[in-house]
Amino acid sequence: TARAAIFDLDGVIVDTARYHYLAWKRLAAELGFDFTEQDNERLKGVSRMRSLEILLEIGNCERAFSSEQKENLARQKNEWYVEYISRMTRSEILPGAREYLELLRECGKKTALGSASKNAPLILEKLGIASLFDAIIDGNKVRAAKPDPEVFLLGARELDIAPAECVVFEDAEAGVEAARRAGMRVVGIGSPQILSADLVVPGLHVMVALFQTELHSDMVDA
Ligand code: G6P
Ligand code: MG
Repeated sequence: TARAAIFDLDGVIVDTARYHYLAWKRLAAELGFDFTEQDNERLKGVSRMRSLEILLEIGNCERAFSSEQKENLARQKNEWYVEYISRMTRSEILPGAREYLELLRECGKKTALGSASKNAPLILEKLGIASLFDAIIDGNKVRAAKPDPEVFLLGARELDIAPAECVVFEDAEAGVEAARRAGMRVVGIGSPQILSADLVVPGLHVMVALFQTELHSDMVDA
């Protein structure tokens, strides 16, 4: 039986991908190249510094900067990103996310956040949902980025629940792989063409709709 559910943040609970996109696009424009929404797909679930490397690759300028300059570029992007998310309101929580967390907690499941983002505390505060998690593991606590399982294993440990009794909700393939490597079952949020999860749904609102059905119990209770 799954006794705990661990949630990725960006793309599962809140759609911050477009703010990351706007900030990266602004950085690319300053560096003199274009960055498309399709390019942005490659950055989902990826750490900030790794995202910068990919962006510079896209602009064919990965060798043009020293590591100190790269730190500055990443800092600049983050300043813009923080500016965008600071204006975020509670209405930007994705459909079903709050309700699903509440349903799980009502039936005695533990809940944790497992995110690569160092901005997770600010986002949770903006959405007013920090109290819906028994444990919060974010980019400030983990060293190895997904697909390394560290973030989810830390979540399980903080909840004091065995990995095999945890189910993960993830929208990025790197996160799906991280969950598998942690020995957890995983529900993909997005498209089955992209995600290799045990079950893939378009959003947590569908988990709310499936609640108390056999499919839901097979995935979460079995
Ligand atoms: C999540 C997002 C990524 C982002 C990463 C780091 O995994 O999906 O797009 O790069 O977090 O976020 P941060 O807020 O620390 O830059
Ligand atoms: Mg994500």
